[in-house]
Amino acid sequence: MVFTPSLRLLAVSLVALLQPVSAIWPAPQTFTKGNSSLYLHQNIKITYNGEPLAYTADYPASALSSKEIVTAGVSRALGSIFSQNFVPWMLQPRGQLSKFEPDVYKGQKWIKSLEIVQNTKDANNIVKPALAGEVSEEYSLTLSAEGDVKLTADSYIGVLHGLESFTQLFFQHSTGTSWYTPWAPVEIKDKPKYPHRGILLDVARTFMPVKNILGTIDGMAASKLNRLHVHVTDSQSWPLQIISMPEVAEKGAYHPSQTYSPADIDNIQKYGALRGVQVYFEIDMPGHIGSVSLSHPDIIVAYDQWPYQWYCAEPPCGAFKLNDTKVDDFLGKLWDDLLPRVTPYSAYFHTGGDELNRNDSMLDEGIKSNDTEVLRPLLQKFIEKQHNRVRKQGLTPLTWEEIPLEWNVNVGKDVVVQTWLGPDSVKNLTSKGHKVIDSNYNFWYLDCGRGQWLNFDNAGYAAFSPFLDWCNPNKGWRHVYSHDPAANLTPEEAKLVLGGEVAVWAESIDPITLDTIIWPRASVAGEVLWSGRIDPATGQNRTQLDAAPRLSELRERLVARGVQSSSVYMTWCTQDPTGKSCEYPLV
Ligand SMILES: *[C@@H]1O[C@H](CO)[C@@H](O)[C@H](O)[C@H]1NC(C)=O
Ligand SMILES: *[C@@H]1O[C@H](CO)[C@@H](O)[C@H](O)[C@H]1NC(C)=O
Ligand SMILES: *[C@@H]1O[C@H](CO)[C@@H](O)[C@H](O)[C@H]1NC(C)=O
Ligand SMILES: *[C@@H]1O[C@H](CO)[C@@H](O)[C@H](O)[C@H]1NC(C)=O
Ligand SMILES: *[C@@H]1O[C@H](CO)[C@@H](O)[C@H](O)[C@H]1NC(C)=O
Ligand SMILES: *[C@@H]1O[C@H](CO)[C@@H](O)[C@H](O)[C@H]1NC(C)=O
Repeated sequence: MVFTPSLRLLAVSLVALLQPVSAIWPAPQTFTKGNSSLYLHQNIKITYNGEPLAYTADYPASALSSKEIVTAGVSRALGSIFSQNFVPWMLQPRGQLSKFEPDVYKGQKWIKSLEIVQNTKDANNIVKPALAGEVSEEYSLTLSAEGDVKLTADSYIGVLHGLESFTQLFFQHSTGTSWYTPWAPVEIKDKPKYPHRGILLDVARTFMPVKNILGTIDGMAASKLNRLHVHVTDSQSWPLQIISMPEVAEKGAYHPSQTYSPADIDNIQKYGALRGVQVYFEIDMPGHIGSVSLSHPDIIVAYDQWPYQWYCAEPPCGAFKLNDTKVDDFLGKLWDDLLPRVTPYSAYFHTGGDELNRNDSMLDEGIKSNDTEVLRPLLQKFIEKQHNRVRKQGLTPLTWEEIPLEWNVNVGKDVVVQTWLGPDSVKNLTSKGHKVIDSNYNFWYLDCGRGQWLNFDNAGYAAFSPFLDWCNPNKGWRHVYSHDPAANLTPEEAKLVLGGEVAVWAESIDPITLDTIIWPRASVAGEVLWSGRIDPATGQNRTQLDAAPRLSELRERLVARGVQSSSVYMTWCTQDPTGKSCEYPLV
């Protein structure tokens, strides 16, 4: 076809008619919007279940009640609109921001009221989270052309999600202190596809200060992610202070400054709970526990054993002795100290279980065997005992997939199994009736693909150049977006997939790079887990063309709020809200 000037003109005007997407991320289940502009003012009239609620900047929830938590949520939402917002010139065609922005000098219409209605009461013990799916995260949000906003939800968490979507409707005006939405009227009905949408953060390979963990929770709340899994100890370090056994962190932490006090743990969990993010912890065992050897050498085998690859996945090795009552005594004391402290804010506790190398027990005087027949019953007893202790504290155990799949250890059907080795594992476990969360390393390991962290001498040079890491390549956001944890499962099996977590293993990540590694890719997995891979409007997989402009907008919002997210792509691409300027043309 010859591309005549008139056809070209038609094509251009068709593109202009395509409404630029408005970026609520993750995409709501249903979302309709108009094209009227409304402004927001700090004196907006707000009610919560009929009672007036005053907007105060930086309002700290002073009590753990629904009203206090919602008041703080409103304060954060409006605060982010008024003081952590941005002028979206980078999301509009060059030189055309004024076509997107309303004219502040004529006919300003204002949002008049925000009516928040919570249909059901939160549990008395409000920050004690339920198991996956037990609390409704659903909300609906309408914004009339006349400026009345109504947000309805069943729980405070649903209210917080609705407030987050509300903030994402607004931009700062380029003239300065005006904030508007160009999308009125708006109607949103929304709920998540999966109840478990998380990030695994490793703070043992590299210590992450409390403020970085809180910053991670901020990014999670902005993306409707709801589980922060803190991998808090490993063979390299033990940063977790245990009151009854201070020696464990005194000897096991990298430095006295690199520890979490009980107050830190409480602060982190409470901060999460107030934002709808459940923070739960993992003490990885019986492998990945070498740092305990620094304070309790008698209960660990193979600590810092070389060549390490015969005994573990990375240096330094170290595993619990599997047939030693002193290990039981240590763990009894640990659980009695730690679990009551984390229980008020968690439903779960992760007991690890990945990558146990059977050779470790060769060095254990009490066992001296690497035979599965010998080790399996010992491991069965060990896991059962620890899981029962976790249950006794009112927590549900999580385990890595190797425990049931590689070691054939029987775990209860209440236990949530975390997979990382791929779709066969998800299928295998769900077909046997196990609940699963998926962290498939080929898609959702965010630390991958940045090169080796191990050193090679000249002999190793030739064999290992160019020093790629084990899970190379990097998982770019487009690849992260393509993963559906329930792919190829029967409907019955799919029901047992509670969701997933992206993993941030920290062998070569520190607080300086943390945000750029996590964001915006965690939000990308977050959309798969909240909205699903399939767009209900088309019945097709959501496309990168649809996602990229919305993700670019989310990225600007994250940065405006202090989350140092990586960019999605260059400004040449973001300045086309259709994403077409940077589409790869298939010829
Ligand atoms: C705004 O929406 C109305 C109602 O759908 C439509 O008639 C009108 O053409 C739209 N205006 C613009 C500028 O897109
Ligand atoms: C166990 O150690 C032997 C060497 O003694 C090694 O050949 C083997 O690969 C090791 N097994 C594992 C699982 O690392
Ligand atoms: C484990 O310890 C018990 C009690 O000391 C002992 O009877 C048993 O033989 C040990 N099992 C193995 C596999 O070493
Ligand atoms: C068990 O140990 C023996 C002796 O060190 C070794 O040859 C063998 O490879 C080990 N088996 C496994 C499965 O690692
Ligand atoms: C599940 O894993 C077990 C142990 O690895 C294996 O024997 C079994 O064949 C697997 N089953 C399926 C359905 O993949
Ligand atoms: C969606 O993409 C997945 C791969 O991520 C593919 O297996 C599936 O067939 C696609 N579904 C549809 C409806 O196109």
